Amino acid sequence: MLILGIESSCDETAASVIQDDGTILSSVVYSQIKDHQKYGGVVPELAARKHLEVIPDVYQECINKANISHKDIDLIASTIGPGLLRGLIVGSVFAKSLALSLGKDFIGVNHLEGHVLTPRLTHQVKFPYLMLLVSGGHTSLVAVEGVGLYHVYGETIDDAVGEAFDKTAKLLGLTYPGGPSLEKIVQDTDLSSIEEPSWTLPCPMLHQNTLDFSFSGLKTAVRILIEREYKNTLSQTNKALISQKFQESVTTTLITKIAKACDRFINQFQTSPTIVIAGGVARNNMLREKLNIFCQQKNLQFFAPPHDLCSDNAVMIAWAGYERFRTFHKLSSFDIKPRPRWSLDTLTEETKGEIT
Ligand code: KG4
Ligand code: ZN
Repeated sequence: MLILGIESSCDETAASVIQDDGTILSSVVYSQIKDHQKYGGVVPELAARKHLEVIPDVYQECINKANISHKDIDLIASTIGPGLLRGLIVGSVFAKSLALSLGKDFIGVNHLEGHVLTPRLTHQVKFPYLMLLVSGGHTSLVAVEGVGLYHVYGETIDDAVGEAFDKTAKLLGLTYPGGPSLEKIVQDTDLSSIEEPSWTLPCPMLHQNTLDFSFSGLKTAVRILIEREYKNTLSQTNKALISQKFQESVTTTLITKIAKACDRFINQFQTSPTIVIAGGVARNNMLREKLNIFCQQKNLQFFAPPHDLCSDNAVMIAWAGYERFRTFHKLSSFDIKPRPRWSLDTLTEETKGEIT
């Protein structure tokens, strides 16, 4: 079976063809980063117009790279939420039109479910497992019991961690997206001879019992630090130092919450969790390395998808569409609507038949 995935929920226009055994035949991602960079973040109207402009070419390139013909596709999966409404409309209408004109099956996919199920494609991870989903829009700890069965242990109560990276980069005068910029300045700067600073950055909500996160205070702490300690004038070295300490705070916070979530997982499933990460921030090397060490110390299995499958892509949408199809043997009707807000919890309620 060949599955086509289409993704357009934020600022990536993506298409992919995969086989039902998880083989990736093609994955094309048109990143709009350059179009949004000068605004310091994604502009929804601009994103939708760009999706509209590039989606036919992205699709055609994806078909060419997979070396198949349109008629070879069996199932078309497209993101219908959560995300930016107009972008979702562009991608889903394109996918539905294609399915209608080619006489193919269509399935609408939840973008978060795409991230959450990716490790099953990349590492054949078995249920249940514990997922840290960290992106520009989401920060969640999710126990994944099965397809459509997600227990959200904790979420951000304000900024997502990727958003905190982006806002901190802006404060430091670094380019959007913030995550790669912060990593790069640390990499490019020799901090070995720098003394430990007198200041520290907070690790938000570290000692509270909840598994929820909060990152807006960390960003504010960086702003106050720049104003008070550095009088709004930062050398390259000081920018790198703040970036390094910011990453350490974020990593410590995320790993401490994972450790707490492990206890809850063991209580719920009577087994130790396999730990997996996904989302754009899962590309962060410090997070990957420290999480790997944590899991080795705790004797837990740890899987991180390759970088290009952590950030937004259409492989994960094709895969999630296929996982749903093979689990529930159900397709979406053509009148299914884009859903800008669509939590994993609601998906579980739908799976259990609590919402019809
Ligand atoms: O999953 P994603 O591509 O898009 C969604 O938000 O759905 O995630 C984008 C986010 C941005 O906030 C970006 O700054 C962050 O992922 N990011 C990183 C890194 N690469 C991307 N954060 C930390 N370290 C990175 N290397
Ligand atoms: Zn995403």
